[in-house]
Amino acid sequence: MLQPLPHGASPADRQERYDEIRASIRGLLDGEDDWVAAMATIACELHHAFEAFHWTGFYRAVSDALLVVGPYQGGHGCLRIPFEHGVCGAAARTRSTQRVADVESFPGHIACSSSTRSEIVLPVVTPSGALLAVLDVDSDHPAAFDALDQRELEGVCSDLAQQFAGRVYG
Ligand code: SME
Repeated sequence: MLQPLPHGASPADRQERYDEIRASIRGLLDGEDDWVAAMATIACELHHAFEAFHWTGFYRAVSDALLVVGPYQGGHGCLRIPFEHGVCGAAARTRSTQRVADVESFPGHIACSSSTRSEIVLPVVTPSGALLAVLDVDSDHPAAFDALDQRELEGVCSDLAQQFAGRVYG
């Protein structure tokens, strides 16, 4: 496994790392039809690729109103998040990426870990419009995520949603 890329690495190095990790995920998930195995593999690959990723994992949409924790890496995460709560809930409700540079400025942020300073949460939506999950990455560094992270992580979520296009809930 690769050493985690240090926080503050250049955009070129971060892009190269995303290219490596996305190729690795594509290879590992080739032909895989088990949803939990896919989420667990993505969480593991991403978490160990970047030093700044301190909590990396999925919350599954189990209904039109509730997220339940799925495979993740890092300290323990809250088990259930209603759509009306937190950054994860906002991503699920609006089906749009939430990139939060300072979690203390986000009303209703759920502090599973008091050390979290910034986070990015991305919806996993199938081509037919079903919200399967959200991918949540939290960092102890402020403003740890930029447009490059957003574009690449949205690509990971889009690939996952296409592979599991037949599902209705996560
Ligand atoms: N920070 C998230 C909650 C999930 S955990 O931190 C793992 C939120 O506000 O949605």
